[in-house]
Amino acid sequence: MYDLSVVIPTFNEKDNVRPLFDLLRAALDGRSWEAIFVDDDSPDGTAEEVRSLALEFDNVRVIQRIGRRGLAGACIEGILSSTSPFCAVIDADLQHDETRLAPMLDALQGDGELDIVIGSRNVDGGSSGDGLSRIRRCGSDRATALTRRMLNITASDPISGFFMVRRLSFNEVVTSLQGEGFKILADMLAASAGRWKTHEIPYTFRSRHAGDSKMDSAVALEFVSLLVVRKTGGLVSTRFVLFCAVGFTGIFVQLLSVKIALVFLIDQFALAQAFGVFVAINSNFLLNNLITYRDRALRGRAIWRGLLSFYAVCALGAVMNVGVANSFFATLPFWALASIVGAIAGALWNFIASSLFTWRTR
Ligand code: GDD
Ligand code: MN
Repeated sequence: MYDLSVVIPTFNEKDNVRPLFDLLRAALDGRSWEAIFVDDDSPDGTAEEVRSLALEFDNVRVIQRIGRRGLAGACIEGILSSTSPFCAVIDADLQHDETRLAPMLDALQGDGELDIVIGSRNVDGGSSGDGLSRIRRCGSDRATALTRRMLNITASDPISGFFMVRRLSFNEVVTSLQGEGFKILADMLAASAGRWKTHEIPYTFRSRHAGDSKMDSAVALEFVSLLVVRKTGGLVSTRFVLFCAVGFTGIFVQLLSVKIALVFLIDQFALAQAFGVFVAINSNFLLNNLITYRDRALRGRAIWRGLLSFYAVCALGAVMNVGVANSFFATLPFWALASIVGAIAGALWNFIASSLFTWRTR
C-alpha cells in the first residue's frame, strides 16, 4: 500500500504522460506514492502510453474507461480504485504545480483533523499565471464567485480541481457526488456542508504543455446544473436538470417551427403543429445527445437507432401527458394546473424511459 495515490484524469493527453510522470517522480522523491491515470479511451492512445510507462515503473497504472466521458466521474473512480490513506487529483497537462504535493501530504499527515488540502490560485503566493486566456480568466473569476456564494464555500479556489483529500473524509461524501461534470472539488466541498477542515496552499497555474483543453460550453452548462443540484439539496440529478433545460429550448423550437410552417400551410394549423412537434423532438434528441448524455453520446449508426427509440419514448410520453392531465382534471377541474401536471408526468416519463432505452449504458 502507498501513502499517496495521485489520480490523473486524461483525455487525449498522450504527450503529457511522461513529462508529468517525470515531474511527479522528482516532486515526490522519497515518498510512498503511486500514479493512477484514468483515461476515457482516448483516441490518441494515452492509455497505451501509460502502459508502456508501467513496464518501467511499478507505481503506475491506468484505468481505461470504454464508452464513458467525464472529468469528475474519472476522478471519483480513480480515488475509489486505490487504498491509500491520501489521494490527490492533478491535471495531466502540467498546469497544476506538482511540487505542492509534498507539502500537501505533510499537512495531512501532520494534522489528523485536516480533511482536505486545496491548491489555490487565489491566496497570497498563488496566481492564475498565464495559464488562462483573458476571456477564460474572466469566466473563471465569475464561476468562482458564483460557486462560493451559492454553495456557501469558504475556500478561495473551489473550481481549480487541484487537491489532496483524506480517504476517510472522501468516503463520507462520495455517495452524494455528481459524476457528470468537471467540478469535483466544488461538489465535494458542497457535500461536506462546511464540516470539513480545509487548508489552502498557493500555486501558480501554468500554461498547458501539449494538447488542447476540453473545457467547452457543454462543460459550462454542466457546471450551472451542478449549482442547481446542490441548491435543491440533491433532489434532482445533473442529468435531469440538463434534460429539462433541453426540453425548455424545445418549446421555442416548436413555436418557431409552427410559425414557419404556417407560412406554407396557411389555415392548416393541425398540420403545422404536428410539424412543430416533430422538429422539436428531433432538436431535443440532438441536444440531449450533445449535452445531457454527452458522456455516452450515440455516434455513427447508433444515432439512428437512438432517434427511433426516442420517437417511441416521446410518443408514449405524449400519451402519458394527456392521460395524466385528463384524470387530474376529472378530480380537480383547473385546466392550467391539470395541463402542467400532465406536462411534468410526460417529462418524467421521457427522462426515465430515454435514459433506459435511448442512452442506455453499455
Ligand atoms: N478521464 C477524463 N475524462 N479526463 C478528462 C475529461 C474527461 O471527460 N475531460 C478533461 N479531462 C482531463 C484532461 O485530460 C486534463 O488532464 C484535466 O482533465 C483537465 O482538463 P483540461 O481540458 O485541461 O481543463 P482546463 O485546463 O480547461 O480546466 C482546468 O482549469 C480549470 C480552472 O480554470 C481544470 O482543472 C478545471 O477543473 C478547472 O476548473
Ligand atoms: Mn488544462
